[in-house]
Amino acid sequence: MSRGKFIVIEGLDGCGKSTQLRLIKEGLEQYGKRVYLTAEPTSYETGKYIRRILSESLIKDMYLQAALFLADRLEHITHPEFGIEKYLNDGYMVVCDRYYYSSFAYQGTASDIDWVMRTNLECERVLKPDLCIFLDVNPDTCKSRIDEVRDKPELYEKDVEKMHQIRNNFLRVFDRLGDSHNIYIIDANAGVEEVYAKVFEKIKMIIQKG
Ligand code: TMP
Repeated sequence: MSRGKFIVIEGLDGCGKSTQLRLIKEGLEQYGKRVYLTAEPTSYETGKYIRRILSESLIKDMYLQAALFLADRLEHITHPEFGIEKYLNDGYMVVCDRYYYSSFAYQGTASDIDWVMRTNLECERVLKPDLCIFLDVNPDTCKSRIDEVRDKPELYEKDVEKMHQIRNNFLRVFDRLGDSHNIYIIDANAGVEEVYAKVFEKIKMIIQKG
């Protein structure tokens, strides 16, 4: 059995990731693939602690946040039963809602971005995705969507200026990674179906590459 592909979907909070993830899963299944949809932060213990930091806006050092996200990521990858590595070896297409690019963009704004990148990229356990798609939506739109659905915004959903800064950080990081990573920035301000068509086109490219 051939190894599956590891696909990461990134974007600001409120960019429409959840809808696209659902469509990607359906699309891949119609394509005859087995799909494992997963997300970071995870639902393991470290992930739960991170969720509490986010939802209660607990003040935490950015280095500590980056380290917690990395610890959660390592468990996400290496868990013997439900780890990303295990699913890839079993031939699944693993589609992950956020990965280390989020650490670079979010934690990189207020800690040493070089350190955050190095600890993730140079750790041999941390898998490199086959594809990363960034759903690029105007931060003002993201913020209004969040305000419509959330009674209490999470840590990174409160301040539209901060969201602009995080978007810029994502773009800077992608630029810096250059051709060493397979990253596509998709203008996701359009309608759901139009965005999905562009996303799935990129996914088909990596499937066809084998
Ligand atoms: P989400 O469930 O809407 O994707 O929210 C997760 C939040 O966690 C989002 O605000 C981004 C943040 N985050 C980081 O700050 N660093 C990371 O490494 C990851 C994976 C997420």
